[in-house]
Amino acid sequence: MNEEFHYKNGELFCEGVPVQQIAAKVGTPVYIYSQNHFLKQHQAIVEGFKEVDPLVCYSVKANSNLGLLRAMALAGSGFDAVSKGEVYRALRAGADPQKIVFAGVGKQPEEIDYALEQGILMFNVESEAELETISKAAAKRKCEAPIALRINPDVDPKTHKYISTGKRENKFGIDIARAEACAKRIKELKNLRLRGLHLHIGSQITYADRHAEAIDKVTPFINSLKKQDFPLEFLNVGGGFGISYHPGEGLPIGDFAKAMAPKIKALGLKMLCEPGRFISGNGGIMLTQVIYDKPSGDKHFLIVDGAMNDLLRPSIYQAFHLAWPVKSPGLPDGAALANNSPLTDKNLGKDAVTYDVVGPICESGDYFALGRKLPKMNDGELLCVFSAGAYGYTMASNYNTRGRPPEVIVDGDKYWVSRQREKLEDLIRGERLTPSETFSAKA
Ligand SMILES: Cc1ncc(COP(=O)(O)O)c(C=O)c1O
Repeated sequence: MNEEFHYKNGELFCEGVPVQQIAAKVGTPVYIYSQNHFLKQHQAIVEGFKEVDPLVCYSVKANSNLGLLRAMALAGSGFDAVSKGEVYRALRAGADPQKIVFAGVGKQPEEIDYALEQGILMFNVESEAELETISKAAAKRKCEAPIALRINPDVDPKTHKYISTGKRENKFGIDIARAEACAKRIKELKNLRLRGLHLHIGSQITYADRHAEAIDKVTPFINSLKKQDFPLEFLNVGGGFGISYHPGEGLPIGDFAKAMAPKIKALGLKMLCEPGRFISGNGGIMLTQVIYDKPSGDKHFLIVDGAMNDLLRPSIYQAFHLAWPVKSPGLPDGAALANNSPLTDKNLGKDAVTYDVVGPICESGDYFALGRKLPKMNDGELLCVFSAGAYGYTMASNYNTRGRPPEVIVDGDKYWVSRQREKLEDLIRGERLTPSETFSAKA
């Protein structure tokens, strides 16, 4: 994983805290985050792209934990939101509204009005129809709305089809062939201020040339806008920087910077980016406890107390997450998912077992790992699911009427519960057994 999650004396630590202590205090399943990982990743982008004066707008959807958003805001980060709720969340965490960008293909008038009222940096506009809606909202408020045009550059990000967003067949962004018509309409509408262009071609991208190609595709349009005297300030390159789920898989941020920064500099624009996974993915783990080992035919089901409602990625994307016991005697001290990961077959021990690691939910797709060789595990032992900091808790649900797990933030040798485990009464909040008021169809 990284040095924030590491094994020492045969047990897993998050920064300076043995994670078993956290499980003993708050139970399992539980999400555990390394605050310093989030801050370190943010700083890596700031440093890596310093020649283009980057504004990092952390993508709230990846991990919207308030305590972490606050730490990010204090470190100077901005935020990328895709709903009124995310704008609200970022502001409650202490975000500077002038560092909030708002994307999404279906922004509604009420959401736009709220964001205008808060004075956000800009809207990333995804269609011609949205230009009209934002213009109307700005007219009502008698203000000018700051916008960027999100262009769909028709670039293949070479990632999972569900997280590819920059190909023509995807619903996101404005077809580049229609971009000039949008520019003309912006001039006519008067109360829109075009501050930049926006690109976001997909997530978990591990080829820097994908981002570079997207920039190349919009360069002629940027040059045309400049000729038309649009006061462009930003090129927002979106998110998508990939991370290591498998040992050694990610790309150093320097490789992205090398491919992208000179192109942005040549355009004379400030870089804005919206990383989510890169900041949060390897900053979180999910701990789960073994309930039963169930041999069946020639395999074993390892039934754990976490489930697809807690961490959905394996079920919907067939995503790989490294999993390993929290106690692993004999494991060499060191990083868990670096290139030289010690979590390999040679540390399985003599009695390794091939498991399907599954949850208690009534779906065959409820799993964390299939056919995975692990050291033999006993009932009550803790298993760590790594790289769970992005699109983990934010996709959690109450399916099967299960309470969502707590979230714990570690900072050095201290930790705190930033979100409580949901209790039984939380699971029926807002529901009624009988009508409190009845409405008639005839009324
Ligand atoms: C517009 C936009 N920006 C940024 C992101 C964050 O992407 P990632 O987590 O891959 O960095 C997303 C994710 O889907 C997105 O839709």
